[in-house]
Amino acid sequence: MSEHYFSENPTSPEERGLIRTRLRGIDFTFETSSGVFSHRRVDNGTRLLVESMGLPGEGRLLDLGCGYGVIGIVAAKLNPRLDVWMTDVNTRAVALAEGNTARNGVRATIKHGSLYEPVESEAFDVILTNPPISAGMAAIVEPMIAGAPAHLNPGGSLQLVVQSNKGGRTVAGFIEAAFGEAVVVARGSGYRVLKGVKR
Ligand SMILES: C[S@@+](CC[C@H](N)C(=O)[O-])C[C@H]1O[C@@H](n2cnc3c(N)ncnc32)[C@H](O)[C@@H]1O
Repeated sequence: MSEHYFSENPTSPEERGLIRTRLRGIDFTFETSSGVFSHRRVDNGTRLLVESMGLPGEGRLLDLGCGYGVIGIVAAKLNPRLDVWMTDVNTRAVALAEGNTARNGVRATIKHGSLYEPVESEAFDVILTNPPISAGMAAIVEPMIAGAPAHLNPGGSLQLVVQSNKGGRTVAGFIEAAFGEAVVVARGSGYRVLKGVKR
């Protein structure tokens, strides 16, 4: 049976690869491996989030469930003044994200752990995520969204991408419950980017 990309400690042999791609008009190279999410190409949902994400002029950013690091690394490249944090439950993803920050000439604080446990006492100005829908809506995705306001400064936002016909409505409902409103900021390739703002 193939391993889930959200396994904490993947045991499958590591098949390494390199992805070269252009995001927000900048060239990036990411090292990837089997056992992590979308290891052959940057996921279309991730791409839509990266192309549409709104970043603060300064402050702190969390890439929650960072995988090999695309979202946080692009954010750090676009605005070097941001204090970028990245977390993932998958140890292989965390190791790749660490290498990829250096590879792309950016700095970030990268932590291993589930949900908000690695950033328990931290607050951010933006939280970005392509949430792991297949890890479970109730077990993982809802706590990711419900826990966001407690880790955001006032005026801060959660911006996430979801497949429109694979949980889009449910996820919008979680954002409405946590923030009062879910705004659609982008659509494309069957995905939508949703945003909740902490008032
Ligand atoms: C859909 S993937 C997105 C990965 C990366 N952000 C990207 O866009 O390529 C979701 C990520 O969430 C991670 N994940 C799953 N369960 C998690 C949890 N409980 N806490 C933190 N991260 C988790 C997975 O390991 C995976 O890397």
